[in-house]
Amino acid sequence: MTLIAFHDGIENASLDTWRYHLTKSDPQISVIALSDSKANDAEIALVWNPPNGRLAELKNLKLICSLGQGVDHLWKDQKRPQSVPIIRLVDPHMSHALSQWVLAVLLDFLRDGPFYRENRLKREFNKLPQANTIAMKVAIYGIGAIGSVVAQNLQSLQFDVSGWAQTPKTERPFKQKIGKHGFESLIHSNFIHICLLPLTKNTKGLFSQDVFNEMPKGSYFINAGRGEQVDERALLQAVRSGHLSGAALDVFCEEPLPVSHPFWNEPKISIWPHIAAQTDPATTFEQIARAIYAVKSGLAPKNLVDPNRQY
Ligand code: GLV
Repeated sequence: MTLIAFHDGIENASLDTWRYHLTKSDPQISVIALSDSKANDAEIALVWNPPNGRLAELKNLKLICSLGQGVDHLWKDQKRPQSVPIIRLVDPHMSHALSQWVLAVLLDFLRDGPFYRENRLKREFNKLPQANTIAMKVAIYGIGAIGSVVAQNLQSLQFDVSGWAQTPKTERPFKQKIGKHGFESLIHSNFIHICLLPLTKNTKGLFSQDVFNEMPKGSYFINAGRGEQVDERALLQAVRSGHLSGAALDVFCEEPLPVSHPFWNEPKISIWPHIAAQTDPATTFEQIARAIYAVKSGLAPKNLVDPNRQY
C-alpha cells in the first residue's frame, strides 16, 4: 500500500484524473487530498504550492513530487522536511507544448499579429513590410530539457540561436554561452530574448533595468520562466519608452495578474495566464509511479532536485 497526499493548488481539480492514472498503474496506490487528516500517514506528496508547514506534518514522508517542472513553489515552505528528496517533472510533451507557445508568440510578433488584428477590427486592408527573420539573433536563457527543444525548433526555422546556462552543459546542437560574461554578451547582441530559467536565488531579478537597457533597441522579450526573474516595473518602462518593441509573458510576480496591474494597459505586452506548458497527468503519471517504485526499493529516483542549486 502506498499513500499519496495530493495538492494541486487549484482546489484539487485534477485529483480524480491523477487517482485514475496512478491507481491503474499500481492498484496498491491510494491518492487522497493533502488537506485530509488521513494524509498525515502518506509516504509520498504529489504537490503544487502546498500550504506552509503541512508537509512537515507527514511523518512517514519519503518523497516529494512537484506537480510541475518548476520547484520554486516548495522553497516558500520554511518548515518543509529538509531530508526528504524532491523530484520534478521532466516531460517531452510539456517541452513540446512550451516550444509551441514560444513559436506562437514570437511569430505573432514578427508577422505583426497585433497590427493585423487591429486592422480586422477597423475593416482595413493595410499592409506592413515584413521583417527579414533569416538568421535573426535569438538568445534562449535556460537550455535544459525545455530550452534545448525550443532552441532546436527555432534553429530549424533559420533563426540564429544561442543558448545560455549558468554552468557549462554537455554538447548541444546550438551555440552556448556560459556564466556572467556569456549572459552579458547575449544581452548585447541579440534581438529576441527568451527566458526559460528556473527560479533560484541566482536568477531572481536577473532581468533588471540595466539588463533591459543593454538590449539592442527594438528587442523583444519573452518570459515563460518565472515572474520574479524580471523587474516588472523596468520592463514596463522599457516597453513604454519604445526601447523594447514589446514582450510576451506567461508568468508574473503575482499570479493571477492583479486586475489593476499596469501590464494590462500596455498593448505591446501580450499576457498569458501561465499556460505555456500545463501538467498533463496522462503524460506524467508513469514517471511518478517509477519514482515511487525507486524510492520504495531504496533506489534514487530520476529527476532529483538539488536543494543547493534550487532546481
Ligand atoms: C510550470 O510553470 C511548471 O513549473 O511546470
